[in-house]
Amino acid sequence: MYVLGIETSCDETGVAIYHPQKGLLAHKLYSQVKLHAPYGGVVPEIAARDHIRAITPLLRQTLQEAGLALSDLGGIAYTAGPGLIGALLTGAAVGHSLAFALGIPAVAVHHMEGHLLAPLLDYPNLPPPFLALLVSGGHTQLIAVEALGIYRTLGESLDDAVGEAFDKVAKMLGLGYPGGPALERLASQGHPDRFFFPRPMTERPGLDFSFSGLKTQILNTLAKTQQNPQDKADIAYAFQEAVADTLAIKVKRALHQTQLKRLVAAGGVCANLTLRARLRQVAEEEKADLFLPRLEFCTDNGAMIALAGCLRLLSGQREGAEIQARARWALEELAPIRLQSGPPRHAADGECYRGDERSTNQP
Ligand code: KG4
Ligand code: ZN
Repeated sequence: MYVLGIETSCDETGVAIYHPQKGLLAHKLYSQVKLHAPYGGVVPEIAARDHIRAITPLLRQTLQEAGLALSDLGGIAYTAGPGLIGALLTGAAVGHSLAFALGIPAVAVHHMEGHLLAPLLDYPNLPPPFLALLVSGGHTQLIAVEALGIYRTLGESLDDAVGEAFDKVAKMLGLGYPGGPALERLASQGHPDRFFFPRPMTERPGLDFSFSGLKTQILNTLAKTQQNPQDKADIAYAFQEAVADTLAIKVKRALHQTQLKRLVAAGGVCANLTLRARLRQVAEEEKADLFLPRLEFCTDNGAMIALAGCLRLLSGQREGAEIQARARWALEELAPIRLQSGPPRHAADGECYRGDERSTNQP
């Protein structure tokens, strides 16, 4: 079954085709970054309108790259939330009506489940239970994945998400939008020994996060410098270290608490190389296996939606006639995924670490 995945929850239009035995056949991404950059952040109405413009050409290109026709598709998955409601409705309306016209099933996908399952693009039979760290622009969560579709939140951010903190600190440092990648580039020029910021909420027990205090500390520190390029790079370095360290400390704590020995990390901030290195270190210390999505599947994309939707379609889920989109949606509300004929099987190449050693693509 060829499954078309459509992602339009924020500022990227993503379209992909996934097959449970053949893996990912094609994926295309159109980023709206240039459109939103002058405003310093995503403008929801512009995002929704631009998804409408981009989606049909992208769909054509994806089918062409996969060497398929619309009539080859067996199902359509679209992101139904959480996200910007106007943007979500674009993908949901296109996905749902296309499925109706083709007489094939449609399935609504939870954006964060898409992120969480992205490592399965490379490790289709990654067996639950495992711990998942989800770090994106809107979410920071530690999730116990008891089985596919059965998620228990162990901890989350009480204020800003990690990606949001990256974006806000980047703005303070005079970097453009989106801030995360720009801040990572600037941090690579920073001196390690100049600044040190506390690791928020690591001194007290629990698995929740808070990043808004860190932001204020950075603002105060910046005000005490001459704010020249080196000052900014040194601050960016220390901020990135504080974030990566905080996440690593909490991941370690969650591994101890749950006794889980497999760890997945996903979402846009997982594209950060310092964070990836720190998580590898944790995996090594805890003798846990770490599964990371390829860089291109950390940030928003259609491939993760096609995969998550494919698993849900294989588990028998289908949408009714109504088009669904939800700005807010808890992972715990999802139905379990029950695969009658086992997990998909296909080869791919991702990053899996057993301790510090990079291993082959199967767990
Ligand atoms: O998952 P994602 O693409 O979209 C959401 O679901 O929110 O995550 C976007 C977030 C943004 O805040 C962006 O600044 C951050 O991920 N991000 C990064 C990096 N690449 C993207 N943060 C730190 N380092 C990066 N390399
Ligand atoms: Zn996302």
